[in-house]
Amino acid sequence: MSADLMSTSGWHAAWLPDEALAPLGRRVTAVDLTVVSASGAGPVVAAVVAEVRAATERSGGRLVLADDDVTAADGDVRPDLVLVLDPDAGLPAEGYAVERADGATRVTASDDRGLLYGFFHVVRLGEGAFDDALAAGTHAPAHAVRMLDHWDNVDVHDVMGQVERGYAGGSLFYADGRLRPDLRRVGAYARLLAASGVNRVAVNNVNVHRTEAHLLTDRLGDVVRLAEQFRPWGIRVHLAVSFAAPMTLGGLDTCDPFDPAVADWWADTARRVYAAIPDFGGFVVKADSEGQPGPFAYGRTHADGANVLARALAPFGGTVHWRAFVYDHHQDWRDRKTDRARAAYDHFTPLDGKFDENVVVQVKFGPLDFQVREPVSPVLAAMPRTHLALELQVTQEYTGHQKHVYYLPEQWSEILGWEPWADGRTVSDVARDVVAVSNVGDDRFWTGHPLAQANLYGFGRLAWDPALSPSDLLDEWVGLTFPGADARVRDVLRDVVLGSRATYEQYTAPLGVCFMVGPGHYGPGVDFYEYSPWGTYHFADRDGIGVDRTRASGTGYSGQYPEPWASTYESLETCPDELLLFFHHVPYTHVLHSGKTVVQHVYDTHTDGAARTVEMARRWEDVDGLVEPALYERVGELLAEQVRSAGEWRDQVRTYFWRHSGVPDARGGPLY
Ligand code: GCU
Repeated sequence: MSADLMSTSGWHAAWLPDEALAPLGRRVTAVDLTVVSASGAGPVVAAVVAEVRAATERSGGRLVLADDDVTAADGDVRPDLVLVLDPDAGLPAEGYAVERADGATRVTASDDRGLLYGFFHVVRLGEGAFDDALAAGTHAPAHAVRMLDHWDNVDVHDVMGQVERGYAGGSLFYADGRLRPDLRRVGAYARLLAASGVNRVAVNNVNVHRTEAHLLTDRLGDVVRLAEQFRPWGIRVHLAVSFAAPMTLGGLDTCDPFDPAVADWWADTARRVYAAIPDFGGFVVKADSEGQPGPFAYGRTHADGANVLARALAPFGGTVHWRAFVYDHHQDWRDRKTDRARAAYDHFTPLDGKFDENVVVQVKFGPLDFQVREPVSPVLAAMPRTHLALELQVTQEYTGHQKHVYYLPEQWSEILGWEPWADGRTVSDVARDVVAVSNVGDDRFWTGHPLAQANLYGFGRLAWDPALSPSDLLDEWVGLTFPGADARVRDVLRDVVLGSRATYEQYTAPLGVCFMVGPGHYGPGVDFYEYSPWGTYHFADRDGIGVDRTRASGTGYSGQYPEPWASTYESLETCPDELLLFFHHVPYTHVLHSGKTVVQHVYDTHTDGAARTVEMARRWEDVDGLVEPALYERVGELLAEQVRSAGEWRDQVRTYFWRHSGVPDARGGPLY
């Protein structure tokens, strides 16, 4: 197995090992481009044809390129699979129809990306794609834009390193202060992303530092070369840009969006970008946030700022993803009125309807910052006249640095399916785009923790179809990544991965209180942020803990929700246990809906969560010899670290609650 899973190129094959394509490769596939001539079909179709050719050459099947009736295309050869590109077939953008008739599976698409996704659909189904019981149906993405943001720096940043919040080594794109000369691995990455459904990639950090700013102008050639790698896989490239670029790059003395010279600079710059990259996706902007420049300096709004960039991109079909992650990061911890959780809503909702058509306001899923448990951001329910993107984080910044197993689809499907009005409409319905911060690097397994590959895969798949269950998704990933593996592999992976989000939540910050992380956002640091300017406090004292965000006596944040949630969160009687400390400051002896007191809940969950990691590590040993040794060892080492770290969390959080409350643990576990 090991040789099959590790491609000869030196990096792990992830969910596209050759074996995963063998069911298709053993058969005869006809690619029918009757309507679009093969030569005029473009790079995406060429990639599909090359995939089929390579798979059939490896596994003994055959590729037939049909330019007329395919069933008769090659004399006596009957195709098992027919891939048809027909612009007149009337299928949705990027969508495809699948049917099985007369012993052949037929996949039809109306555009090249539909053909690509239809091809990967067949790969996913494996042998099942050729079963006469195959269900007919049309498939199309729920979200037109499924984007990964890379927080990669060209230069190594003195604090944040090569990849900000990256836990998988260096950047796939940049090394030694420049674009990597050999971009083959970027091509392999693009292929993996296409198989998961991702269709946009932003290639640099939202904190745009000095060198990276130049990707927009004199380093544009680097972006051209990256776009060449992504283009055959149907992925459009975006760039994070600095709002101050007209000054820092253009030599102007202002970046006021109302200054005509500034608008001209952006228009001219966009024109140059599109001349070099005709399918360029657009700009990602972090403005007036954590020290990044923005329109506030000129007394302008976020809409004013976003629109000047949008107007430069509009003639070329480009989009501005303008981030809503805006708050005061110089807060005084003594001030109990200011609430960071309120900030995005307070800044952005008054601007609803003021953004141009090609602006998308990109909203982090929660009001704070990618925590294991936060309420879903109320901004998503409050801007009906604005295009919105939901922003998730595949990189495990607060969720264990890709050292802990944390299966993010369990959290994402909860978020995507959350109903802001409890009336059937979901977050997925209101967010036009779905975006996430990538978790890859130049690590051999791409993601540091090999099991974190399931998060990357799951992101693309959920952005395509938010209704997929995390457990089915895991099975799908396991089937592709470990093709033909012993059934025990799947069972162990299910035991280790499913429920891992809940486990992490058990041994870290309890009941929605958030943060409590140490330096670098890894490991326990219960009071690490308590007296800091970052606005992330838990307010523990001898009597109780939690943030009063009610309208009645607190910051009023609960009032940013529509009903029924505004009332649900406001009231202690109805606030869900898991968000209790996000919305309320309560005594340690407050009794939860579960019947336990807050403090006993903390004792129990921390004991149980840490114990669960020991079981996970034990269970992993059951696949010794059944998976590639390097992967086995890597996961084993990381599980050992997870066990250590979870124990540290358990002891510190339990002891903190004991010292503050004086209440003993009814179960009698150790307290220090
Ligand atoms: C977090 C993260 C930063 C990042 C920021 C953002 O605060 O720690 O590294 O820049 O989010 O999303 O912009």
